[in-house]
Order: sequence, then C-alpha cells, then structure tokens
Amino acid sequence: MAAITACIFDLDGVIVDTAVYHYKAWKQLANQLGFDFTEEANEKLKGISRKESLELILNWGGVSKTDAEREDLAHRKNNWYVEMISEMTPREILPGAEEFLKSLKIDGYKVALGSASKNAGIILAKVGLTDYFDSIVDGNIVTASKPDPKVFLKGAEMLGTAPAECVVFEDAIAGIEAAKAGGMKVIGIGSAATLSGADLVIAGLHEMSIEILKKL
Ligand code: G6P
Ligand code: MG
Repeated sequence: MAAITACIFDLDGVIVDTAVYHYKAWKQLANQLGFDFTEEANEKLKGISRKESLELILNWGGVSKTDAEREDLAHRKNNWYVEMISEMTPREILPGAEEFLKSLKIDGYKVALGSASKNAGIILAKVGLTDYFDSIVDGNIVTASKPDPKVFLKGAEMLGTAPAECVVFEDAIAGIEAAKAGGMKVIGIGSAATLSGADLVIAGLHEMSIEILKKL
C-alpha cells in the first residue's frame, strides 16, 4: 500500500463554513419560485456545480425554465452568495483547519485544493489561506461535477503525485464518491451515517493529525 504524500482538500464545509451560505442562497431562490427544500435534500447539492444544483432544485420544485431563465436564476443565486462571502474573515476558517494545513507544510506533505466552486479563489484570499496550497483546482479549471473524479485527478497531476498517494478531505457524498472513483483515500468530514463510503469519518479537521494520516 502506498504511503500518503499529498492531501487534497474540498473547500466548502471542510476548510470554511460556506456550505451554509450556499444553502441559504439556494433556499432563497427556491422560496422566490414558490417552493422549499429540506436540509436532507441539501446534502445532495454539496459538491455539485452551480448549474447542476439548479437543475436538481428546479426538478424538486417541479418547475421548468428555459436556458436563458436558468442562466438568470443561477446568476441571481451567485450574486447573493458572493454578497455573503465578500464579508468573510479568517474567523470563518473551520476549527483546526489552519493548524492542520500548517503541520502538513512543516512535515513536507503536498497540498492541493479540489473544489467545484468558481468562487474558491476569492474565499481562500478572504480568509488568508491561499499560501498553504501548492495547487488550486476549482470550478473554473474543471467543470465536471463530483462524483466525477476529474477535480481530484487534476489536483494530483498538478502536484505530481500518484492518486494512490493522495488523501481527499470531503464533506459531500458526491465528493467521497469522486475520490474513490479516482483511486484515492478519503476522509469524510461530518457524520459517519451520511458519509459511510469514506475510509474514516471525523467531525472536523480539529480531530485530524499527521499520526492519523500515517495510519491510513
Ligand atoms: C461546492 C459546493 C456546492 C456548490 C459548488 C459550486 O462544491 O459544495 O454547493 O454548488 O461548489 O460553487 P459556486 O461557488 O461555483 O457556485
Ligand atoms: Mg464541500
């Protein structure tokens, strides 16, 4: 079994708590269209691109829209979302995330971001974490939604690391599936009941350490 030499992080819900902003913005849009969706349904949106998330939501509401209308709705949701994230500060880094990134640097692990978000670069800059990443793969570079493994495979390629030597940190079911499809180890962030496909599930990066990484 290959030893882990690189870590690839999802952003929303792993490093920063933007998952809640995505939820609020989508919920606001659905409510304007005259329907609602549950937190359970929201789990299905995590890790999924803006365009595909909108398709799912419109399906749940039984609403059909033209391409131009869809474009306008996705734009509306993103404007609300960008308004929310533009207020972000380093205080919104999730517990333990910066400490773990720091320890990876000290121990010489390679680090990449693997996010479906087109806003990933803005968020990392807002919270001051950009410099911890050797490579950044976001929704502007890879447009295929998780569970497609491309976002993580591109990360491994940019780091110059074999997939078997990478571990992915993910809070989304689709992200866990993407990492597995890419031949990588995966640590779920959240509840073990929801993220049962992961090699290990922890509540947050505050529970993570280099020792755990070595035992994977
Ligand atoms: C992440 C989030 C999704 C979001 C996607 C696209 O994967 O988990 O909820 O839809 O990024 O984000 P964006 O910022 O480009 O709309
Ligand atoms: Mg996420």
